[in-house]
Amino acid sequence: MKPINQIIQKRPWVAWILFLVTMLVVFLLGLLASSITERRAEAVFVNTPTAEISDFEPRNEVWGESYPREFETYYQTADSTFLSKYNGGGMIDMLEVDPRLVVMWAGYGFAKDYNQGRGHFYAIDDLRNSLRTGAPMKDTDGPMPSTCWTCKSPDVPRVMNEKGVAEFYKGKWARLGSEVVNPIGCADCHDPKTMNLRITRPALVEAFERMGKDINKSTHQEMRSLVCAQCHVEYYFNKNVEKGAAYLTFPWDKGMSVEAMEEYYDEMGFKDWTHKLSKAPMLKAQHPGYEVYLTGVHAKRGVSCADCHMPYKSEGGQKFTDHKIQSPLNNVANSCQVCHREETKQLVADVYERQDMIIENRDKLEELVVRSHVEAKKAWDLGAKEDQMKDILMGIRHAQWRWDYAAASHGGSFHSPVETSRVISTGITIAQETRIKLARLLSDLGYNKEVPYPDISTKAKAQKYIGLPVEKLKADKEVFKKKIVPMWDKKAEAREGSWGKKGNKKI
Ligand code: HEC
Ligand code: HEC
Ligand code: HEC
Ligand code: HEC
Repeated sequence: MKPINQIIQKRPWVAWILFLVTMLVVFLLGLLASSITERRAEAVFVNTPTAEISDFEPRNEVWGESYPREFETYYQTADSTFLSKYNGGGMIDMLEVDPRLVVMWAGYGFAKDYNQGRGHFYAIDDLRNSLRTGAPMKDTDGPMPSTCWTCKSPDVPRVMNEKGVAEFYKGKWARLGSEVVNPIGCADCHDPKTMNLRITRPALVEAFERMGKDINKSTHQEMRSLVCAQCHVEYYFNKNVEKGAAYLTFPWDKGMSVEAMEEYYDEMGFKDWTHKLSKAPMLKAQHPGYEVYLTGVHAKRGVSCADCHMPYKSEGGQKFTDHKIQSPLNNVANSCQVCHREETKQLVADVYERQDMIIENRDKLEELVVRSHVEAKKAWDLGAKEDQMKDILMGIRHAQWRWDYAAASHGGSFHSPVETSRVISTGITIAQETRIKLARLLSDLGYNKEVPYPDISTKAKAQKYIGLPVEKLKADKEVFKKKIVPMWDKKAEAREGSWGKKGNKKI
């Protein structure tokens, strides 16, 4: 090719064309730059509060004035219409769906009442209405400690800041009934000054410290999961930290696997309750969602909870985070298809396939555990001695812990199918070994037949079988809802009214 100056000498119009094309490119680049600057300015505008929000403002509505898009989508967690095959936002009575749970939790609150989790919007209502929290008529009444409020509300960091963390964990649940009233919201996850994600629950920070990690050094992407790990984790109430306090603690010191947490609990001799039939020292897995998620392929590829449960959404040219935290199967386009090219139908089928396969085995384990409780009761009835039962009861404890770790890690069958299957299969092995020991013991005690399986085909029958006075619990609850709850709300209204509109500092 000839040098350019020669071409131009021959054909001067080429120079003009080059000149005009360059002008056009510069002009277009200018437009692009200006659009970027404008969008940047808009984004700053969108993320700058239009009203003052004080540090521990618990009212989502007050934040909502500055961030209407996030608030409106957050508010949609009130929508409980979507149901997937096993999950979704509906109110599902799990004891009705599977009455065997009643027997597994005999002697513990969950046998009274257990519904599947709904949207964050319902966190306060559902806790007040649950039979598990009882019907306390006084601040010092009731079965639950005040610690039960910890994962329900942005009033929690506010009250902890005012009264101190250990102080918050002291006394009964009813003591804080008028203090904790706003459902899970903005102040749980955000710093009001910068809108950066922040950790507000000390239990998570303390668990990291004990593992020798500084949570403040987490990356932005890790924070998009850690805000959820404040609540969607395994925990227990430690009574040995401060007198009178049920101190919320995550049992991660030895690791987060089912075995590591079991060893932690076994070593300290911890139990959540003594089983009513088998007398086994039981553990209740809470919801080790974060722990199980970490073992899955998505976590290993750096996909955060927010990537699937809080995807980006566009509205009027504005991209923002969808705060309608829900089952991603209700929004596959934004939740999955940003990374996967498959059709919605295929992606949903992938999820169901994993769930079906895992639930098939979980079901098997569940029956084995129910049978072992019933057989252990038979052994006690026939005069078994403590030392004959010791190993068997530990077996029941460990088998049910594995079942619960898998069942309660909500979403675990999708988040980490391989680990969840492994946990269940180790549970099946332990349950079978325990039942062999039980059969031998029963035989030593002169009983050589199959122990009859009780008729627990409905929730009502199962609750009757374990001797639970459900009608009384329900009647008491109604009185509590009529007399106590309105008093709590009135007190809360008076407190919030005294703050003025702009936040919880008087201005
Ligand atoms: C302050 C504690 C807390 C935090 C923080 C929290 N959750 Fe929840 N979450 C809950 C509670 C409690 C429920 C059950 C509410 C109910 O059933 O009343 C729940 C329910 C859910 C549900 C079920 C909703 C449905 O409609 O099926 C999903 C999904 C969920 N959370 C995901 C997340 C994700 C993802 C994060 C982090 C971005 C997160 N949560 C942060 C406490 C929390
Ligand atoms: C369970 C935790 C959680 C709660 C509750 C929550 N947010 Fe967020 N919020 C997030 C996450 C995660 C992001 C994404 C942040 C990022 O990646 O930088 C976010 C982003 C934002 C942003 C930045 C702009 C955007 O849309 O990405 C704003 C503003 C915001 N949230 C406002 C709110 C408001 C207002 C509320 C209460 C109505 C609220 N958030 C409740 C977790 C939460
Ligand atoms: C931010 C990107 C991202 C998002 C969002 C995402 N995925 Fe994935 N997904 C991945 C990556 C990366 C892998 C690992 C595949 C690999 O490395 O080859 C994966 C793996 C999978 C697998 C195979 C893993 C297994 O369990 O055997 C399935 C199934 C899957 N994703 C389904 C989904 C579904 C359903 C959603 C929405 C709820 C979703 N993914 C959302 C990135 C994503
Ligand atoms: C790759 C996408 C993906 C990631 C990452 C992810 N989830 Fe999920 N999650 C799902 C899917 C899909 C389901 C199954 C929903 C169904 O069955 O309807 C689910 C289910 C759940 C459920 C039960 C929902 C219900 O309706 O009851 C909870 C709670 C949950 N996830 C919380 C979390 C938390 C907390 C994290 C991070 C520690 C997380 N998820 C990370 C995709 C994801």
